[in-house]
Amino acid sequence: MDRLSVDHLTGIKELTKNDIEIIFKTADAFKEVINRPIKKVPSLRDITIANLFFENSTRTRLSFELAEKRLSADVVNFSAASSSVKKGETLIDTVNNILSMKVDMVVMRHASPGAAKFLAERIDAKVINAGDGTHEHPTQALLDAFSIRERLGKVEGKKVVIVGDILHSRVALSNIYCLQKLGAEVMVCGPTTLIPKYIHELGVKVEHDLAKALEWCDVANMLRIQLERQDIKYFPSIREYAMQYGLTKEILDNLSKKIVVMHPGPINRGVEITSEVADSDQAIILNQVENGVAVRMAVIYLLASKINRD
Ligand code: CP
Repeated sequence: MDRLSVDHLTGIKELTKNDIEIIFKTADAFKEVINRPIKKVPSLRDITIANLFFENSTRTRLSFELAEKRLSADVVNFSAASSSVKKGETLIDTVNNILSMKVDMVVMRHASPGAAKFLAERIDAKVINAGDGTHEHPTQALLDAFSIRERLGKVEGKKVVIVGDILHSRVALSNIYCLQKLGAEVMVCGPTTLIPKYIHELGVKVEHDLAKALEWCDVANMLRIQLERQDIKYFPSIREYAMQYGLTKEILDNLSKKIVVMHPGPINRGVEITSEVADSDQAIILNQVENGVAVRMAVIYLLASKINRD
């Protein structure tokens, strides 16, 4: 059996190209499973997984839970909003209490960059990062690249522009690592204030003109503005941002070729993307969501195969 080089998935940075290819090959098989009338396999019948969400989520949380249930794992869910975290309990105490209940794997979303790695270094269970602050969102990047491969046949040699709030986006950083490892060229596009100063060190192109960026690319990944992470004003108003960086049907129709449009969600319709574009046949947003379940099944299955059962 193909084995990953890592024991946890804390970030794409730690994965090799071979790891990503193993995940995709495994996800291909699981995608076939979840499209069957009986969408379940008994692979993880003796495994217990805890989903710990210290930050809000719709897609990632549901997708992980479905992936775990499709693999027949036992699943427990934890939401910070209704937990004893509110009573002052530390992260490590919360997790150790959950692990005492014989949990084998932890899927965690947390507001602090590095939280997943911190946990992975301190507990026996396998850890999957479901988003750690502004740092990484590795399964989102894997499902994004898997969706590009599905739509365009391969990722290698493709040109991908990530548009929007790059500064606060864990999706952007994980996508940059993942796409580059697979041989794609990456550009970021947005207002100067929302592009991190270190971006050139990552080997990506930078473009501030949306029309030029779109003319360059094969794929545009549109990100939302993360107002909840912004403590100062980075642009004059949402309306002005939408006028300069919002993707409309008119802009798409004026390009010399048909590009693929992606969005990790949640979408702010009328800001970074219009409804007409989000619901068009150029957008693969719901394919991304579908692929998320297969990709997460693959990651969970491959990490579970590394659990020591002695
Ligand atoms: N793409 C994504 O992470 O969405 P959620 O915040 O809803 O999980």
